[in-house]
Amino acid sequence: MEPKTPAQSRTILTDLVLPSETNPLNNLFGGELLARMDRAASIAARRHSRRIVVTASVNHVAFNRAVPVGSVVTVDAAVSRAFSSSMEIFIDVWIEDRYSGERTKANEAIYTFVAVDDTGKPTKVPEIRPETDLEKERYAAALRRKQLSLVLAGKMDPSQATELKALFMG
Ligand SMILES: CC(C)(COP(=O)(O)OP(=O)(O)OC[C@H]1O[C@@H](n2cnc3c(N)ncnc32)[C@H](O)[C@@H]1OP(=O)(O)O)[C@@H](O)C(=O)NCCC(=O)NCCS
Repeated sequence: MEPKTPAQSRTILTDLVLPSETNPLNNLFGGELLARMDRAASIAARRHSRRIVVTASVNHVAFNRAVPVGSVVTVDAAVSRAFSSSMEIFIDVWIEDRYSGERTKANEAIYTFVAVDDTGKPTKVPEIRPETDLEKERYAAALRRKQLSLVLAGKMDPSQATELKALFMG
C-alpha cells in the first residue's frame, strides 16, 4: 500500500451554532461538538483508508473556549499517523469572528479510528508520510498517545509502553 499524506485525508466541516445546540449559557453544547468532530474524523479516516471505519477511542479533548450561539465553527480533521489498522486523527476547531472574519482556535481533539472489513475485523491501512513541521510533530508524538490510550483501556501492560516510559524517565 502506498503511503499517504495528511493532506489527502484532510476534512473541513463548517457549520453554524443554532440555539437548539447550546447549553443554558447559550454556548455550544459539548456533546454536539464531539459529534461534529467524530463526523469529520470519520470522513478523514475513510479518505485515508478507503475502508469502513469505527471510532475506537477519544484520546483527548480540550474545550478551551466557549463557542457562542451564532458562531461559525470550522472542524478541521486529518490523519496524523496510521499504525496497522488504527489511525490517529487530529482535529482543530476554529471559530470565525462575525465582523472581521478572523479565525481563533477554540478547541482540539484527538480520536482513534480503526479500519474494519465487512465483518468488523480490523484491516490494514496505508502508512502516513507527514510533510509540514506540524504534521511531523504530531506524527512523532502519536505512538506514545496510542500507548497511553491502550494502557488506560487496559489493553496494554504499562511495562510494554516503551515510548511512554521514555517520556517520563527522560
Ligand atoms: C475498535 C475495535 C474494532 C477494536 O477491536 P479489537 O478487537 O480491540 O481489535 P485489535 O485488538 O486488533 O485492535 C485493532 C486496532 O485498534 C487499536 N485499538 C484498540 N483499542 C484502542 C484504544 N482504546 N486506543 C487506541 N487504539 C486502540 C489497536 O491498538 C489496534 O491497532 P493497530 O492494528 O493499528 O495496531 C472494536 O473494539 C470495535 O469494533 N469497537 C466498537 C467500535 C464502535 O462501534 N465505535 C462507535 C462507538 S458508538
